[in-house]
Amino acid sequence: MKSEEGLIFGVGKNQNQRGIVNSDNWRIANPDGKKRIIVTRDLPGDRWVDILVAAGCRVEIFTGTADLSPDEIRQRMGSRCDGVIGQLVEAWNESLFQALQGAGGKVYSNYAVGFNNIDLAAATRRGIAVGNTPGVLTGATAELAVALTLAAARRIGEAERYLRAGKWERWLPHLFLGTQLRGKTVGIIGAGRIGTAYARMMMEGHKTDIIYYSLHPKPALEELAAAYSRFLAARREPPVVCRRAEAVEDLLREADCVSIHTPLDDSTRHLINAERLALMKPDAVLVNTSRGAVIDEAALVDHCRRHPQFRAALDVYEDEPALVPGLADLENVVLVPHIGSATRWAREGMAILAACNVAGVLAGRPAWNRPDIDAFLEADPPPAAPSILNAEALNLPLFKATG
Ligand code: DGY
Repeated sequence: MKSEEGLIFGVGKNQNQRGIVNSDNWRIANPDGKKRIIVTRDLPGDRWVDILVAAGCRVEIFTGTADLSPDEIRQRMGSRCDGVIGQLVEAWNESLFQALQGAGGKVYSNYAVGFNNIDLAAATRRGIAVGNTPGVLTGATAELAVALTLAAARRIGEAERYLRAGKWERWLPHLFLGTQLRGKTVGIIGAGRIGTAYARMMMEGHKTDIIYYSLHPKPALEELAAAYSRFLAARREPPVVCRRAEAVEDLLREADCVSIHTPLDDSTRHLINAERLALMKPDAVLVNTSRGAVIDEAALVDHCRRHPQFRAALDVYEDEPALVPGLADLENVVLVPHIGSATRWAREGMAILAACNVAGVLAGRPAWNRPDIDAFLEADPPPAAPSILNAEALNLPLFKATG
């Protein structure tokens, strides 16, 4: 196996002290590992590689800058590949899962919590377990949503551009007047882990009321708001209110600021379209850190043009990295390049979860089915695969705590 792979992949050069071999745009850890894992983009930290190596894997990591095409991924998997860690920019569809299955693969993990790039049904049909990386990026993404909310409400992008352009001549009473958030109503579309974390940050940090739209009521979030209101009342401060909207339209009409935290699927694509934008207050703030296509980006450009007091702050785009024409020209829009989870802690944590997903499935470990996923970041992680999306469909065993 070793000499054959040496020929195919041109390895054997520059072995360094961590047992890592470099070849053109590929770094290979533990060349003699018995299981072969392809990682389509290098990931932050070292621990994730150590986890895979300790599980007996040879880890082949793409270190080039361009995205790998489906053909390049297929070619790299070749006739023998046990698992893949891939990126949210890759379409993991029937054809790639067919190739992975054909190579003897048993597991794919996305390096992301979102999995709209994956055809889960196709993976399940081919017996391939699919993992993602929830939990560890909740705080980072919620923090970025808060940062974008404040940047939009206080016009930070506009003000910074103005200053850098040398336009600032004097302090003026009317210069860059924005919106103060305290006591305003924040609408949350999708009150899962990240939406709930954002709601808490806004409610507890900025004393905003919360209105949320979610398929199911979130009693834990409502109870947090009630408990926080009791805390405020004890200090003679006004309470905060948290309630569920019956319909997304109600939320859009009532909220001063709307933050989107719903996954992208057929039911949420273009959820925010021209008609729904028209329901929002003319000076509302709209924040998106979930997936770009939840908003009809062309409709948003049109809306922002016609309502200069309206503000949008986006981390994600319909056709990344391209922006719809006109978006980047708008002064009332804050734009950042999909950096919601981009803290070192979160991104290293995501790499560890992806590695544990792959190592766990290959070792026949059960799927973790508990919320405390941070346990996998500790020195002695649980003997399980942290987040397997199709565990039930594949009849994988579920983790049972002992003792
Ligand atoms: C995700 O994980 O889905 C984010 O969009 C990238 O961190």
